[in-house]
Amino acid sequence: MTQQSSVRLGVLGAGTVGSALIELIGARPELGISLGKVLVRDLGKDRGPHVPKHLLTTDMDAVLDSADVVVELIGGVERATEAIVRSLEAGKKVVTANKAVLAERWGGLEPYLAAGQLYFEAAVMAGTPVIGPLTGALRGSRPLELHAILNGTCNYILSQLEQGTSYDDALAEAQQLGYAEADPTLDVEGFDAAHKLTVLARLAFDPNTVWDDVKARTVGISALTPAHVKEAMEDGGRVRLVGSVYPADGAWRAEVRPVYLPPAHPLAGSASSRNGMVFRGDAVGEVFISGAGAGANPTASAVLADIIAALAGRPGPSPLTEAAPLPTDYLSADYKVEVLGTVL
Ligand code: NAP
Ligand code: HSE
Repeated sequence: MTQQSSVRLGVLGAGTVGSALIELIGARPELGISLGKVLVRDLGKDRGPHVPKHLLTTDMDAVLDSADVVVELIGGVERATEAIVRSLEAGKKVVTANKAVLAERWGGLEPYLAAGQLYFEAAVMAGTPVIGPLTGALRGSRPLELHAILNGTCNYILSQLEQGTSYDDALAEAQQLGYAEADPTLDVEGFDAAHKLTVLARLAFDPNTVWDDVKARTVGISALTPAHVKEAMEDGGRVRLVGSVYPADGAWRAEVRPVYLPPAHPLAGSASSRNGMVFRGDAVGEVFISGAGAGANPTASAVLADIIAALAGRPGPSPLTEAAPLPTDYLSADYKVEVLGTVL
């Protein structure tokens, strides 16, 4: 691989994902990636042996001004958007895992998305590739529908409820394991999954998918009880938080809610923090992608892949220019949305 050591990487954030990314870069000297300054809030926090202390700063300007490629891993919307847009405006490539920014600030990013300056594979299903396939190989088919488990924290909690763990203990474990957002309300109330679903809907179904519409069609898992979970298990099924995009009332509808999945459904096998996506296209048929959906290393893996792509001069994912046509025969029994029973 070409050595890229003259390109300086600025990293915003050295928490769960940022620290794992720095460790991964350190373990892959053959990539020739040169780490520049790293933004944090607390210079005194213990970040393990792999994060070089002398690179840490609390000065965002110092990171952005000295970087050729910027990696945004601080989370949240306002400050992250500010850093991303400023870097893009300066002509820099930006890699981010921030689905909240993508869902809620997409409009301001559109020119840079069209220019291929923004990379965000890690933002949906962490290290398990879905952005690449949906904006690449799967564009050869007209989309019919998509159903996906998109939040590792909720999936972990539901899997633990099946084992008899309490909801509060399961959430605390998910936080301890690095799956949850800094504000776990985003996970358990379904908004993190809705952020991700909004991004997928825009990339594969309708570029004008409105975040507030998806948010209004979002129900999380906080009102689920162990009884809901156990009842589903009686016939081998599962309760899972699923985001779906499908035709309804003459438009593409995107919604997130806990559903009953029968045992044969491809998503029913996703346990612990694993995520999964079922995509159906007119020519390709059903495609199922499954793997790690959260956590330090799986997410850092996708961030590193995007950095490699950016350094190699490959563009980021290209947006859709117009909505895909709605299928005319949607009520066909083949469509998987027919078998998803809404639990709440
Ligand atoms: P995290 O553990 O909370 O780390 C955030 C990092 O950013 C910390 O180092 C923090 O500094 C720093 N930071 C936050 N706000 C800052 C500010 N205003 N100024 C300077 N530094 C600031 O979060 P994470 O889990 O790594 O997630 C990072 C991003 O990746 C988020 O957008 C998240 O949604 C996304 N993501 C996470 C996962 C996952 O499994 N964790 C998976 C996919 C995507 P301190 O350390 O000093 O507090
Ligand atoms: N909090 C997120 C989740 C991290 O649990 O899925 C991965 O995006």
